[in-house]
Amino acid sequence: MVELRNIRKTIRDKWTSVDILNGISLEVPDGQMLAVMGPSGCGKSTLLSVIAGLDRPTGGSVAINGTDIYRLGGRALDRYRCRNIGVVFQNFALVPALTCEENIMLPLLFGAGGGKAGARLGAGGRGAGGKGGRAGGANGAGGGAGADNGSSSAARSGAGGANSAGGANSDGSAASGGYGGYGADGIKELLDLSKAYGLYPRQMSGGEQQRAAIARALAGNPRVLLADEPTGSLDQGNGRRIMELFRKIADSKSRIVIVVTHDSAVAEYCDRTVAMRDGALL
Ligand SMILES: Nc1ncnc2c1ncn2[C@@H]1O[C@H](COP(=O)(O)OP(=O)(O)OP(=O)(O)O)[C@@H](O)[C@H]1O
Ligand SMILES: [Mg+2]
Repeated sequence: MVELRNIRKTIRDKWTSVDILNGISLEVPDGQMLAVMGPSGCGKSTLLSVIAGLDRPTGGSVAINGTDIYRLGGRALDRYRCRNIGVVFQNFALVPALTCEENIMLPLLFGAGGGKAGARLGAGGRGAGGKGGRAGGANGAGGGAGADNGSSSAARSGAGGANSAGGANSDGSAASGGYGGYGADGIKELLDLSKAYGLYPRQMSGGEQQRAAIARALAGNPRVLLADEPTGSLDQGNGRRIMELFRKIADSKSRIVIVVTHDSAVAEYCDRTVAMRDGALL
């Protein structure tokens, strides 16, 4: 269950203050797929970042299965996110210095899904990356938000580890059932990523980048999947496949899926739709 209580987000600088979220309360039970719709600028992406543990609200609380996530300390929150939350960012946020395949495996490197092998590899990756490695860890945990040079090079230094996260598959850790139960090879097929696997994000089409971002968010079988316009760059066939996959994940695994969309065809796959305007639910 995801429980939002009176979420507020105000951004202040020296001269101005902007209210972006104005007291949002919402409960999403396990197994539910929720669509969030609303005009551009109404606060949908901000709300998703708040639920993801990436953007601390200025008021209210976010509880996931009873854990008030912003009461966790920084590292504990990183760990929690890594194990429980998958995010598909509106701008994809792939790490530019990693190939499609490495991007997709990145969360496993940091122990997404709670796999022991992943955690071990994560520890190695952090060691190899030093200070930058920690930044890479935070990024990987959040599904790759932001990719400054530090995190990219750290991620690159851990890339060998990310590849050997395939080992996590064979030793039976979380990775074997990863990617919504499809495994790394299955998701590659399903999301039609074979051609893009060895390419860097700058060499990939918008749709390929979006599908890679989706695969990465699913790597550790997160309890909560948050997807910001996940079909915005996809053709109809791929869009349908993604929504069917999300539907299956919500149904068969009792996961929570929250999808921000402008597309009523996407909302039709969902159990429930909430409308947002000016930082509030209607
Ligand atoms: N760091 C920030 N500083 C100032 N304003 C911000 C900041 N972040 C977001 N905003 C503003 O908050 C509002 C909501 O932004 P958000 O990205 O959540 O909208 P959205 O509903 O996702 O829009 P879209 O459908 O276009 O993606 C926008 O007006 C945006 O300009
Ligand atoms: Mg947005």
